[in-house]
Amino acid sequence: MSTQVVLITGGLTGIGRATAVAFAKKGAKVVVSGRRDEVGEALAKELRSFGSEAEFINADVRKEDDVRALVDKTIARFGRLDIAVNNAATEGAVGPITDQTAESVAATFDTNVVGVVLSMKHEVRAMQARGSGSIINISSTYGHKGAAYASIYVAAKHAVEGITKSVALEVATSGIRVNAVSPGPTDTGMLTRFTGTAENKAALVAQVPLGRLGLSEEVADGIVFIASDEARFITGHILSVDGGHSAA
Ligand SMILES: NC(=O)c1ccc[n+]([C@@H]2O[C@H](COP(=O)([O-])OP(=O)(O)OC[C@H]3O[C@@H](n4cnc5c(N)ncnc54)[C@H](OP(=O)(O)O)[C@@H]3O)[C@@H](O)[C@H]2O)c1
Repeated sequence: MSTQVVLITGGLTGIGRATAVAFAKKGAKVVVSGRRDEVGEALAKELRSFGSEAEFINADVRKEDDVRALVDKTIARFGRLDIAVNNAATEGAVGPITDQTAESVAATFDTNVVGVVLSMKHEVRAMQARGSGSIINISSTYGHKGAAYASIYVAAKHAVEGITKSVALEVATSGIRVNAVSPGPTDTGMLTRFTGTAENKAALVAQVPLGRLGLSEEVADGIVFIASDEARFITGHILSVDGGHSAA
């Protein structure tokens, strides 16, 4: 683990940030990516304080030029890419299907689906050159179950799980593993925006068999595991880190 090069998209907050910290504390070289330079540079500095070689690279995952440059700059800086965590996403326009528009659907899919596809395209290109790598897409319990008033986010996360399994089949013989981690309700800014009110948040917690929200650090532990050599025979898998939410 100590020499591995890890790239995380949307890594400046929440689960992505916790994942960057977890990898940095394990001694990995971390490229943390996002859209806000000041926050990104501050996070890279914090990661270096754990002894990690870390860099921030600005990238909007909706833009292929940004994603291509993100991967190329990672290779230029660290010589290779071992682990990629495709975490960037938006909760999109939460609300009834009757409120959705072509624009609201496209806005969610541009980040949550196109962003994952573009990220995988360029990560696979870099990993195929070395014949090894591990890609982890961040899905959701809503990647495999429904949720009223969140149909577009649910559709996008279902797409992420389908893409994960399909690309895992495509690249297995190239030595690249592709998996997804599906968090349940996790205490982040996205969850607060997604639920909107304290009552809605409490109602969601009531659906979690373990009886509480997950922590970003707990999801990060699942990501670190499935990226690791301990998970070397696991590919095309969807790992739920959700307090039992998917089982209910
Ligand atoms: N929290 C939950 O309950 C939960 C449950 C299931 C799955 N998830 C998934 O977990 C992942 C992390 O979410 P989170 O809960 O940690 O929420 P979060 O703190 O809002 O993290 C999402 C990150 O993605 C970034 N992002 C959004 N659009 C982007 C774009 N076009 N290009 C680059 N970065 C972009 C955001 O950056 P900006 O600040 O610039 O917008 C933000 O840093 C997401 O894939 C989410 O769908 C979360």
